[in-house]
Amino acid sequence: MRIAFAGKGGAGKTTLAATLARLAARRGSAVVAIDADSNPNLAAALGVGPSIAAGLSGIPSTAVSRKLTGPCLTASVDDVLAAHGTVAPDGVRLLLMGGPAHAGEGCLCSAHAAVSAVLADLGESPDTLAIIDLEASPEHLSRGTARFADLLVLVTEPYYRSLEATRRLADLSAELPSTRSVVVVNKVRSAADSEAVAEFCHRHRLTSIGEVPFSDAVVDADRVGRPLLDTDGNGSAVAAVAGVLQSLGVPA
Ligand SMILES: Nc1ncnc2c1ncn2[C@@H]1O[C@H](COP(=O)(O)OP(=O)(O)O)[C@@H](O)[C@H]1O
Ligand SMILES: [Mg+2]
Repeated sequence: MRIAFAGKGGAGKTTLAATLARLAARRGSAVVAIDADSNPNLAAALGVGPSIAAGLSGIPSTAVSRKLTGPCLTASVDDVLAAHGTVAPDGVRLLLMGGPAHAGEGCLCSAHAAVSAVLADLGESPDTLAIIDLEASPEHLSRGTARFADLLVLVTEPYYRSLEATRRLADLSAELPSTRSVVVVNKVRSAADSEAVAEFCHRHRLTSIGEVPFSDAVVDADRVGRPLLDTDGNGSAVAAVAGVLQSLGVPA
């Protein structure tokens, strides 16, 4: 199963993707996490040390063959992971899309093609759980990269502009034939927050599969650059992410 996290910048995609990836790995899933943000920070959220994270350069364009049928890898996903990825805590294998090394470098077509290729090839490994942390821009949808995800989790904060961003992403994802979209509400502080998002989901025929409360523990963990799971593993936010994992049908 390939699960991609999309949503407005700051909604909590990286926090939720990293926590969910490690929880799933702890429960026995083979997890591949893909940082598909050209300004990456999934490594830190997973707990990869800064010196190792700094050495991760992303999937090189030489690992991708671009064909009329779409991009594909020139080697197996396992080989690409071994050569260009790293192993994060709990055994989560991590790959980065890669980003610009220099100002004025131009577009990131080949980096996006690399994510498409990895996801397409992971479609052949149904027992692997792929967690993809997308960037906030709708580019993964406009380029069609997200069509290789089985499920798009639209991470939404309970405020108007975040809901608007979710609506636009949901409209685009509705055009992807094999990708189902669901909403996860993050940073919920009150019953009014829950009600506002429930009303929004009802109005736009979207399904919400979970809510994660606003938690000072998330803020505290981020301030010191540590994964939430390692600082507040028994807290309310982690419990809520575990609930999301369960609703996704990932075995407990
Ligand atoms: N449930 C939460 N409660 C409090 N703060 C949160 C929560 N989820 C995320 N955050 C904070 O919000 C900010 C953005 O989170 P991040 O996961 O980087 O978002 P994104 O990847 O969508 O841009 C970070 O400072 C993070 O610590
Ligand atoms: Mg992020």
